[in-house]
Amino acid sequence: MKKLFLAVIVFIFATAFAIQQPATGLKAAIARGKTVYENTCLACHQPDGSGVPNMNPPLVKTKWVLGDKKALAKIVLKGLQGGEIDIDGDKFHNPMPPLESVLSDQEIADVLTYVRNSFGNKASLVTVAEVKALRAKLK
Ligand code: HEC
Repeated sequence: MKKLFLAVIVFIFATAFAIQQPATGLKAAIARGKTVYENTCLACHQPDGSGVPNMNPPLVKTKWVLGDKKALAKIVLKGLQGGEIDIDGDKFHNPMPPLESVLSDQEIADVLTYVRNSFGNKASLVTVAEVKALRAKLK
């Protein structure tokens, strides 16, 4: 009887842990963002963020990746076209498609947090609130 009681207690604790809310914070955001990156950005920017010469720019310590979070999130929401991007003398002109109808605010926040903390980058996380506010402003 005592054993059964113990088993029930262990079961309740295990279940309580399993159904906890998705974790918040940097680590969890990076883990979710990695999946978004693999599904949405990897084909162009490559698994290690190094890009494709003359086609897709690298995401390694560029001023866009490490700089102003609004400018960065705007690139993902609205895409980037018509300009020339120069990264250490390498030039890029191909358009990047807008992803505002493809990705949610959460997915954009997560993928940018992932990119800003991968490929040798180290920068603060991007929050859902920041993306949400920007999306509303750019409408
Ligand atoms: C269809 C290919 C394609 C996809 C998909 C794509 N990009 Fe891009 N990205 C580009 C191209 C091309 C440029 C350069 C645009 C220009 O020269 O005007 C660019 C530019 C950028 C830049 C600014 C320049 C730099 O290298 O720092 C960032 C940041 C960026 N992309 C992030 C992302 C993220 C994050 C995703 C996924 C959510 C993504 N891109 C998806 C092709 C793509």
